[in-house]
Amino acid sequence: MNIIVTGASRGIGFQLVKAFVREGHAVVAIARNEEKLNVLLSECQKEVPEARVYPLSFDLALLSKGAKDSDFLELILKAIPSVDILVNNAGLLINQPFDKLTVQDFLETYTVNLFSIVSLIQLLLPIMGKNQLGHIVNISSMGGVQGSGKFPGLSAYSSSKSALNCLSECLAVELQNLNIRVNCLALGAVQTEMLAQAFPNFKAPLTAEQMAQFIAEFSLTGHRYFNGKIIPVSSSTP
Ligand SMILES: NC(=O)c1ccc[n+]([C@@H]2O[C@H](COP(=O)([O-])OP(=O)(O)OC[C@H]3O[C@@H](n4cnc5c(N)ncnc54)[C@H](OP(=O)(O)O)[C@@H]3O)[C@@H](O)[C@H]2O)c1
Repeated sequence: MNIIVTGASRGIGFQLVKAFVREGHAVVAIARNEEKLNVLLSECQKEVPEARVYPLSFDLALLSKGAKDSDFLELILKAIPSVDILVNNAGLLINQPFDKLTVQDFLETYTVNLFSIVSLIQLLLPIMGKNQLGHIVNISSMGGVQGSGKFPGLSAYSSSKSALNCLSECLAVELQNLNIRVNCLALGAVQTEMLAQAFPNFKAPLTAEQMAQFIAEFSLTGHRYFNGKIIPVSSSTP
């Protein structure tokens, strides 16, 4: 399959690309940090010499700020002819008490966690769902799920993820005629840099590699069984 993973330079996205590559899929790996993407490339090639992994250094926030979409699409098309699976995994967390958060902080958070996803999906629609059923997997958070336990400092982050949850439900309906299914995984705690920033003293029950393995399996098969679902993936968050 032809797959795009955003947020591939570290954490869950980094491990997710490796999980797909091990299964023989072609993966475009997007993030800003070119150096870390090159580390990913060499780790993939070490494990799978014939790995089809295409690092693409790009700031996704630019997409919703009027960047020239066609240039970006061209770079993707140089690597893969179409997209079967898109995993919107890139995310930004600003941990700040509400009275210290600025509207700019909210805008920055929403730009990465929501607006860039809107723009990326719009950009890729013409090359998704043509050959086979497409799957868009949005990586959200338990913090964005209605009724889940909430934590101080995460109002911008968690509210952006709630918006992503609802967007996923809306798109599942709107894109079904285009042969594309949309689901959303609301993750609980996973040991990554983002978690360490949000909860410095907390030890998560899962590693990035373990969570990535689940996300890879879900991305490859989940659309046969689910559409428009917000699925909590947590053994710890209430
Ligand atoms: N870890 C957890 O406990 C947890 C829990 C719930 C949900 N999640 C969600 O899971 C996803 C992955 O989280 P993680 O813990 O692996 O986070 P992470 O270690 O902080 O990694 C975030 C990734 O997003 C990329 N990114 C951020 N802004 C970007 C931009 N403007 N353009 C392109 N790429 C960008 C980063 O790459 P560059 O800096 O190189 O651009 C990095 O690869 C996120 O959506 C997060 O909200 C995580």
